[in-house]
This record gives sequence, structure tokens and C-alpha cells, in this order.
Amino acid sequence: MKYKYAKNDNYEDFSSGRVLYHASGMTNFPVRLAQEIFGWCLQYSPKNNDICLYDCCCGGGYLLTVLGFLNQGIIGKIIGSDIDTKLLDIAEKNLSLLSEEGMDKRIAEIDQMIESFKKKSHVEARESAVTLKGLIRSNISFEVFRSDALKKIDLKTKPDIIVTDVPYGNMVDWAGDEEKVIDRLLDVLYEVCHCDTIIGLCMNKKQKVGNEKYLRLEKHKVGKRKFEVLKRK
Ligand SMILES: C[S@@+](CC[C@H](N)C(=O)[O-])C[C@H]1O[C@@H](n2cnc3c(N)ncnc32)[C@H](O)[C@@H]1O
Repeated sequence: MKYKYAKNDNYEDFSSGRVLYHASGMTNFPVRLAQEIFGWCLQYSPKNNDICLYDCCCGGGYLLTVLGFLNQGIIGKIIGSDIDTKLLDIAEKNLSLLSEEGMDKRIAEIDQMIESFKKKSHVEARESAVTLKGLIRSNISFEVFRSDALKKIDLKTKPDIIVTDVPYGNMVDWAGDEEKVIDRLLDVLYEVCHCDTIIGLCMNKKQKVGNEKYLRLEKHKVGKRKFEVLKRK
């Protein structure tokens, strides 16, 4: 795939476990790919600011937090849900970094680590934290809650864009029956979408979307993954 929206940049300030908190067992979602999927979704969205972004399998909130940093002035609200409450605690901590106050707390935490361990990696993490703090130009509100994405999701606000990296075996499995799981997920998401909500769904190449309630706007393969951009018919 040729990238259209995300620059070929050095994204090491976003490395999981550096400034953003790492959720154990989670794969590191590629930052450039996250931004590319969001870019496609935004292109099809009639809204171009104050976007409400939702991830129904948000894990530790890494993908959402990265998108928050990279789309200041475009994203107004972030909502994440996951079946695993331990991961949601991490998601909350990660999303708190999107405010200057949250980032100041993180910098103080890193300062403590520098003092205790005198490690170069912590000094580099501090530099990254200062860089990320410099990206903050708007106040993105956020909420996270526990929900099984294969059952009904009780979402109060209808999102403008949904970007989600669904479980694909190996490290992260579906908590639920595997058969036609993507189509079941899309049935559930259908109920939380408004008529212009754009969905960017990232999965492995073997997973298939066959849900006829949706129009496929894009389909791209990237390494072991593929993503599709979908909209309600
Ligand atoms: C590939 S990971 C997503 C990682 C996430 N994008 C991040 O940035 O940390 C898939 C997530 O789906 C969650 N999950 C598995 N089954 C689920 C279900 N039935 N409903 C909601 N979330 C589920 C897992 O707990 C895991 O956090």
C-alpha cells in the first residue's frame, strides 16, 4: 500500500512504554498506519473538526492516544471501550496524557525514575514527553467504559469516526465466539453509528467483512494486516 495521509516520519516519541504506558500482552500498533486509517476515515467524513472518535476494542488506548496527539484541532472527543477492565485503567492513563496537566504528571513520574535509576532511556523518555506536550493545542475530552463489542454497546454519543484494531489471535484473542465475529461486531456498531459515521476496521488478512448493511469505501493491505473503510448503507 502507498501511504496517502500519514507521513513517513520518526514516531519514536510515541513508542509504547516510553511516555505512553504499555499494556502487557498488547501489540504495538504502528503509528503511521493508525494515522493513515484515520486519514481515510476523515476524507469520507462530512465533518472535519470536533470529531468524536471511538474505538470499541481500545485495549490500553494506545491507538486512540496517538491519534489524539496527531490530530489536534480535528478530534474533539475520544471514547474507548474494551471487555478487559485492567486494560481500561491503562487506557485512562494514556488518554490523560492528552492534556498539559496529565503530561506534567507524567513528566514528574519520569523525573522520579531518572533520579532513582539514572538510566539514559528515562532521560530520552523525558525529552519525548516534552515533545509530545508541545503538540497539545486543544482540549480533547475522553471517556472509557467496559463493554463487550459483540453485544449491545451503551454509547451515549454517536461517534463520527470509529477506528478499531480487532483481535486477531496470537497475542490478542476475541473474548467470544470466533465464527462471523467481524460481521457480528459490525451489527453491534450499526446501532451506535449515525448515518455519516465512518468506520476504519483493521484486521488480519484472513478475517472477512461480509456484512451487507455496510458499504465498503476502501480496502488496503499492509504487511500482515488489512484495513477496510466502511459506512452504513
Ligand atoms: C488488538 S487489541 C487492540 C489494542 C488497542 N488498539 C490498543 O491501542 O491498545 C484488541 C482488543 O480487543 C479486546 N477484546 C477482545 N474481545 C473483545 C470483546 N468481545 N469486546 C470488546 N473488546 C474485546 C481485547 O481485550 C484487546 O484489548
